[in-house]
Amino acid sequence: MISTDVLVIGSGAAGLSLALRLAQAGRKVCVVSKTRISSGSTLWAQGGISAVLDADDSLENHVQDTLIAGAGLCDEQAVRFTVARGPAVIRWLVDQGVEFTQVDDDEQQGHKLHLTREGGHSHRRIVHAADATGRAVETTLVGLAEQHPNITVLERRVAVDLILDRANKRVQGAYLYNRDSKHVEAVSARAVALCTGGANQVYLYSSNPFGASGDGIAMAWRAGCRVANMEFMQFHPTCLFHPEARNFLISEALRGEGALLRLPNADGSPGERFMPRFDARAELAPRDIVARAIDHEMKRLGLKHVLLDITHKDADFIRAHFPSIHARCLELGLGITEQAIPVVPSAHFTCGGILTDLSARTDVGGLYAIGEAACTGLHGANRLASNSLLECLAFASAAADDLLATLDDQPAPAALRPWDESRVTDSDEDVVVSHNWLELRTFMWDYVGIVRTSKRLERALRRVQLLNGEIHDYYGNYKINHHLLELRNLVVCAELIVRSALQRKESRGLHYMLDYPKTFTEARPTILTPGSDPAQTR
Ligand code: FAD
Ligand code: SIN
Repeated sequence: MISTDVLVIGSGAAGLSLALRLAQAGRKVCVVSKTRISSGSTLWAQGGISAVLDADDSLENHVQDTLIAGAGLCDEQAVRFTVARGPAVIRWLVDQGVEFTQVDDDEQQGHKLHLTREGGHSHRRIVHAADATGRAVETTLVGLAEQHPNITVLERRVAVDLILDRANKRVQGAYLYNRDSKHVEAVSARAVALCTGGANQVYLYSSNPFGASGDGIAMAWRAGCRVANMEFMQFHPTCLFHPEARNFLISEALRGEGALLRLPNADGSPGERFMPRFDARAELAPRDIVARAIDHEMKRLGLKHVLLDITHKDADFIRAHFPSIHARCLELGLGITEQAIPVVPSAHFTCGGILTDLSARTDVGGLYAIGEAACTGLHGANRLASNSLLECLAFASAAADDLLATLDDQPAPAALRPWDESRVTDSDEDVVVSHNWLELRTFMWDYVGIVRTSKRLERALRRVQLLNGEIHDYYGNYKINHHLLELRNLVVCAELIVRSALQRKESRGLHYMLDYPKTFTEARPTILTPGSDPAQTR
């Protein structure tokens, strides 16, 4: 059994920044990743990190932009808390060695960070490393974590469940499935942080890596934590439409730098620019509005995709600002300096998650949740672009402060019961997992997507409860593997999404209901409590 001060489950921006802050302050940390350490959505983030750094901008502007994008549902205290920490977390990343894109500015007598713009932002405030910001952040933090003597990295370990001291409602550690030895190990800790990312693979088409299966959200739910706002699943408006690259994102920063959304003409060439018909902010409207407009036009005209056109910009500018997107499209035979890019919306970000306070604490003692797995109240009904990495970094910093102040008062790591492997047998029915995985993601896409109705949601609930029961039985009878563990978590998250969506009898932000088109004057979060609904299966 491994013992540590803090067990950090997840090695994206949230997990690694927390681990480094704790390790640099002298605490022992164990960081777990279910694949290699360099993994998760963070690695794929393109546009950047929002922070107020320009003299013409203000914290108040950033707060207001976040509140507007969040469609009245943001927790204003969480918004102010996060936005205020923006400049400091960017300085921290620069101090760790992250190389952001800079501008030469003679008047400033030296260099400063280049700021780009994205939808919903009234000012330029996105710090970035060309169009591969996540890679710059992730690789720098991974390099530091791997070298740090206080950090133990456990790769290819899938956290199965949290281990609890139920009498005191405290976390004691977690069981980890080792994908190489095929055995389950127990890790004991004074505190545990769930930094496991979102649940966007619950949909058939997603911009996310396959591991985005909501494991932390499902584990926290099983451990007794409340979850909030799960109906607000964000669809990014522009993922590349190409048979070989369905989940490749075309960053919102292209629209920030002037790219236009157009309908394809009958011969496939770029035609009418349609966003001005939907919103005065056109291509720079918040994401929910742009994704819904694209969905509407695709359904109205029977289109497979729309076009994102940046060909009017200078070719050198495009290549310099978007080198990765340019190169990837070129590999697929698409020259974005002279051709418009076929794009479709796809599932991108989980705005809801495990309910936390401003120190990232959950309902269970010693258990923290940070990053996309958490619901801090920052995003409300729709996340503002580039506010996610900011949230990861700001709340990792807050959690580190809280942990450093309280760890010595927490019970020492306990001796844990080993995992019981005797009760199960090998499965000869792996097809159940692959079949249910596809079925779940297909009906979630068809019934719980960008535009919803009560009837479709009820249909989805019946199916999800059936699958939940089947997977629960399968889990109880057969040896586990990482696909089964992910499916078990995805189906829990799917049920949380559908049940939350059914509770919200209005349209707000990302939750758009044809039979409830109005928005209530009073905005309330949807909070689900484990064990409180008799209709809930597991
Ligand atoms: P992740 O980075 O997703 O990391 C999750 C980690 O948890 C991984 O290490 C994974 O292995 C581990 N894990 C999960 N489950 C388990 C388990 N059961 N056991 C062990 N380990 C587990 N946001 C922005 O702010 N700006 C952007 O420009 C931006 N661009 C994006 C582009 C793309 C293509 C995508 C997909 C997202 C983008 N986002 C962006 C969103 C942002 O990248 C994510 O919300 C953010 O990186 C989440 O970070 P995280 O640390 O919470 O989780
Ligand atoms: C993008 O680059 O468009 C993604 C930004 C984000 O998800 O915040």
